[in-house]
Parts: sequence; C-alpha cells; structure tokens
Amino acid sequence: MYNSILSKKAKLAVVGLGYVGLPIALEFAKKISVIGFDINENRLAKMREGVDPCNELGGDAFKNSDIVFTSSLDVLKEASFYIVAVPTPIDDANMPDLKPLLGATSSVGKVLKKGDYVVYESTVYPGCTEEDCVPLLEELSGLKCGRDFKVGYSPERINPGDKIHTLTNTIKIVSGCDSDALENISKVYELVVKPGVHKASCIKVAEAAKIVENTQRDVNIALMNELSIIFSRIGINTFDVLDAAGTKWNFLKFYPGLVGGHCIGVDPYYLVHKAHKLKYHPQIIDSGRFVNDSMGGYIGKKVVKNLIRLGRNVMSSRVLVMGITFKEDVSDIRNSKVVDIIRELQDYGTNVDIVDPHADGAEVRAEYGLEMVPSPQPHAYDAVIVAVSHKEYLNLTEEYFKTLTTSPDAILADIKGLYRGKIQTLSYWSL
Ligand SMILES: NC(=O)c1ccc[n+]([C@@H]2O[C@H](COP(=O)([O-])OP(=O)(O)OC[C@H]3O[C@@H](n4cnc5c(N)ncnc54)[C@H](O)[C@@H]3O)[C@@H](O)[C@H]2O)c1
Repeated sequence: MYNSILSKKAKLAVVGLGYVGLPIALEFAKKISVIGFDINENRLAKMREGVDPCNELGGDAFKNSDIVFTSSLDVLKEASFYIVAVPTPIDDANMPDLKPLLGATSSVGKVLKKGDYVVYESTVYPGCTEEDCVPLLEELSGLKCGRDFKVGYSPERINPGDKIHTLTNTIKIVSGCDSDALENISKVYELVVKPGVHKASCIKVAEAAKIVENTQRDVNIALMNELSIIFSRIGINTFDVLDAAGTKWNFLKFYPGLVGGHCIGVDPYYLVHKAHKLKYHPQIIDSGRFVNDSMGGYIGKKVVKNLIRLGRNVMSSRVLVMGITFKEDVSDIRNSKVVDIIRELQDYGTNVDIVDPHADGAEVRAEYGLEMVPSPQPHAYDAVIVAVSHKEYLNLTEEYFKTLTTSPDAILADIKGLYRGKIQTLSYWSL
C-alpha cells in the first residue's frame, strides 16, 4: 500500500476539508495523489479556486498540489487510504453529536475495498473508532476489519491562527488496529510530518491522548477563572498574581479567559460522556466545564454591576464589545463565548454594539442573530469590553478608548488583561 501511494498508483483521500482536513490534504498533495472529499459544495467551489474557506491558508498552499476536490463517491472510491477529519461537535445537552462522523464513515464504508486503510483524525472519546465507526464500515462494505481492511487513529494538533506550531513541524501521534497497520500508517504520515510520529500502543490510547491534551488545558484555565472570581472579591488583579507566581520554576502558565471554539470547550464533554457510560461521574472535569461555561455570564454581570456603581441607568446604557471570534486572530465565530457576555448584557436591557476586524457580519447574523456595526461610534459608550486579544487591539491606548466613551471614567473591561497598568482615569476591570 505505502509503495503504491508513493508511486501514485494508489490515492489518499481526506474526508472533511475544514481547519484540520484541508491543510493535511494539501500537504500530502505536494508528495502524492490526493482526493479531497467534502459534502459542502460552496466550500469545494472555493477550494477549486485555490481559496481556503477557513481563511487559514494562503493561495500558495494550493500551488503545485496533486489534488481533486469532490463530493462524488465515484471519485472517492479511487482512494486506498482514507483520512477522516469531519467535525465532532456536541449537541444542546452537551452530548457528543456523532452525525458528521458516522456520515463520513458511511461514505467511506460504501466505497471501501480489500487492502484499504481508514484513519480517523476527528477528536473522539476513547473507544469511538473501534466501537462506533468500525462496525459501520464493516456493515456497509461487507469486509472485516483487520483481515480485509485496516483502521487507525491519528489526532490532529493544529491550532487555528498559530503559524509556529504547524502540521509539518509537530510530532504526530499515530495508532493502528495491528502492528502492520501501525507501521504503514506511520510511514504515510512521515511523508509530511518532519519531526516524525509517536506510535501509540493502541487506538484507544491515541484517542485518549488527544482528549487529555484539551481536557488538561480546560481544567487549568477553569482553575485560573475560579481564582479570578476570588481575587476580584479580594480586590487584586489576577494577572498581577500570576506574574508574581510565574517567577517560580514549576508554576504552569495558564490564564483566565473565555473557553470557546471546537476543541478545549468541547472535547472534555466527550470524555465525560464516556465516563458516564462506564458509571463514573467525573468531578474535576465537570467542574472545569461548569466554571468555564459560566464565565461569559459572570463577565456580563460584572459589567452591569460596574455600570450601576457609576450611577448609569443599565437599560439606557450602551456597551461596545470588541471581538466576537472564539479566539484571537481567527475569523471563526462558532462556539464563541463572547456571545454569552452579549446575551447577559442584553438580558439586562443594555444596548450592545459589536465590532471585530476578523469576523464576518453575515456569519454572525446567521449563527447568532446578532448585528455587528462597521465601526464604533465616537463618545457613545458607557462601557467598552475588549473580549478578544486580536493583534489589532494589542496597542490601543487609554486616549483611544476615551474617544469612544461617554465620559473619562467610563468602564473598560479588559478580559485578557491587555491594558493592565496603562489606564489612569477609565474605570478599569479585568479578569
Ligand atoms: N479546528 C481545530 O483547531 C482542531 C484541532 C484539532 C482537532 N480538531 C478536530 O478535528 C475534527 C475536524 O474539525 P475542523 O475544525 O476541521 O472542522 P470544520 O468544521 O472546520 O470542517 C469540517 C469539514 O467537514 C465537512 N463535513 C461535515 N460532514 C461531512 C461528511 N459527512 N462528509 C464529508 N465532509 C463532511 C464540512 O463540510 C467541513 O468542510 C474535529 O473532530 C475537531 O475536534 C480540530
């Protein structure tokens, strides 16, 4: 299989061309023949024109690549090595929603042949590949896993907006259903991952490793958020405390903040779900999720309390929210926790304007029913909330904020602590 792929006699397919799938597909396409499969025709049309719908990759990434973009199973069936990178979201009850994963698995199952490989990259709970996906592959193909085709799991560590830690320069975890599968899957990934692969002892270990990476971050950020709530009552700044504590060699650098996006705020729920199925009720992971999911409401209430303290009428106050994407320097607004702040403020009857240099107004409207304004209005706001640390916001000054506020003592809520120590007259608050 490996040699056929290398000599382009066999093709590799990536199923699901989003933040994870497209970069992998294009990287492989520099070396081997690739089929990029997706069900979203609008996104496919952009990719055919050399445009990344996620705005992460430039046009150069598409140059000199041997890739076809398709939604056709007839084209998909030409592949021998399938990588599945579709979303694994949660539903309204925070339960895993496996619909895209099982949808992609059935597409692959319908075209699977003897000798093929299927590797999952989507983040899942330990056991999902073998217990949920393999039975569907076997049922639809009439083939037996291990004997007729092989499976593996290789989690992606891509970090949207991060140009330093990339697919090609970060060690990749790989796993396979047997030692043959592990060897061949490793060789395929070594074509594109320069520092090489880490061979996990089994598929469940690789699945667990990924989910633990994000759960660890979630729990640590939750601890910082909880500390921030306590320190706010004491009247000290959390970032000042962390600066001081961070001078010790073994103090871990985590900061308070909103935990949105598709990974850190979502993956722990997959692990919680698996634990519940095994009759264990995780306390720490669940508490972390509770604290982090409550932060938007907490920040909204803090701003309202500060407005009241300043003698403002909450119902007629205007608040400017700067930044609505789920993190800095990306355009992705899905699962943004800034929206929780906005909803909390609107719940109190406050008028909220939203600006963001990276977010698309139509997407914000479609996803949340919220209208963005093209630019802030001068001297219009009783409070300004800088919710996301976009690079455009890093060097803003108190003078600038005062051109937006109704008075020199209006509120500046600096969620990420960007302007700490630089504000003299505005009523400053940070996490
Ligand atoms: N975005 C990240 O930073 C990141 C990092 C590491 C891991 N992951 C994981 O990787 C997986 C993919 O995430 P993403 O952010 O790339 O998702 P995404 O939402 O950016 O893209 C998913 C793509 O899959 C397509 N798709 C959906 N259902 C499909 C189906 N049945 N068949 C074919 N295509 C389908 C969509 O049209 C879309 O183009 C998730 O499990 C995620 O948790 C994401």
